[in-house]
Amino acid sequence: MKPKVLLSRMLPQAALEIVHRECDAEINKADVALSKKELIARLQGKAGLICLLTDTIDEEVFQGCPGLKVVSNVAVGYNNIDVKAATRHRVMVTNTPGVLDDTTADFTWALLIAAARRVTEADRFVRAGKFTEWRLMVFLGQDIYKKTLGVVGLGRIGKAVARRAMGFDMRILYTDVRRAEETAERELGATFVDKETLLRESDFVTLHVPLFPETTHYISERELNLMKPTAILINAARGPVVDEKALVRALKEKRIAGAGLDVYEREPLVEPDLLELDNVVLAPHIASASVETRTRMAVMAVENCIAAVTGKRPPNLVNKELWQG
Ligand code: GLV
Repeated sequence: MKPKVLLSRMLPQAALEIVHRECDAEINKADVALSKKELIARLQGKAGLICLLTDTIDEEVFQGCPGLKVVSNVAVGYNNIDVKAATRHRVMVTNTPGVLDDTTADFTWALLIAAARRVTEADRFVRAGKFTEWRLMVFLGQDIYKKTLGVVGLGRIGKAVARRAMGFDMRILYTDVRRAEETAERELGATFVDKETLLRESDFVTLHVPLFPETTHYISERELNLMKPTAILINAARGPVVDEKALVRALKEKRIAGAGLDVYEREPLVEPDLLELDNVVLAPHIASASVETRTRMAVMAVENCIAAVTGKRPPNLVNKELWQG
């Protein structure tokens, strides 16, 4: 008998083919998230759950689903899952690291360039029929080349972002909980500095840290006040890393020049004032959204789930302590 699994949402075809071959899969085909109650009801008798970062998987879910062996997140970040509770209930948690680094870095650059060169603002201008004459002094943005990029978190994604900055001849600063290997610093030409130096000296500050209690509101009033008035903040990591209300105030008061955001503190809610501001570029959490990458993420999540429900160690196990030997 094939192991029973639940897919909380539809996945790309390549992932579905694998899951149907190996498992008895139930799929939520509706394009809306399941309520907690419904999720628990549909998980009865299932050994595996393949879910998205919009599904909150907490103690209540683990308590309500005693047969569950694995929660496989189709994302690298797993702040939607209470991993400690999962471990207590001996449920494996898996994620999809490595396959989305370059795609996310590309999009980080899309936000950075769009914010620096006012691309979305200019797009709105053209669509509104306002492009009546070429003018010398309109839509003046900021140069990117030869400026200073501050990377917060030089992990896989941070490194991929920094690597792209080399093509813009930029000075690269980074900060992290620990210093990167010397070879990585040399390859990227990146200089390790403390948080305050990075904020004071960077023209562009880009965030690439996971969401933990220690990184919540990593950027708040104090940090925004340290940044240059010409600086631009980019967040393609997790919304709560930035205090969104403090950011709105800084943008309104022009204490920083702009921002590019792919993620929000109370997703999918966006601070209403942000919608009114021209100096911010907004995207709906799509940094990893290329056909190739979303397919790879889904396939990887399916493979993690299948390994776990068939008694093997999933390749991308988060709570490694559940697998001894
Ligand atoms: C997307 O945000 C992810 O964590 O994969």
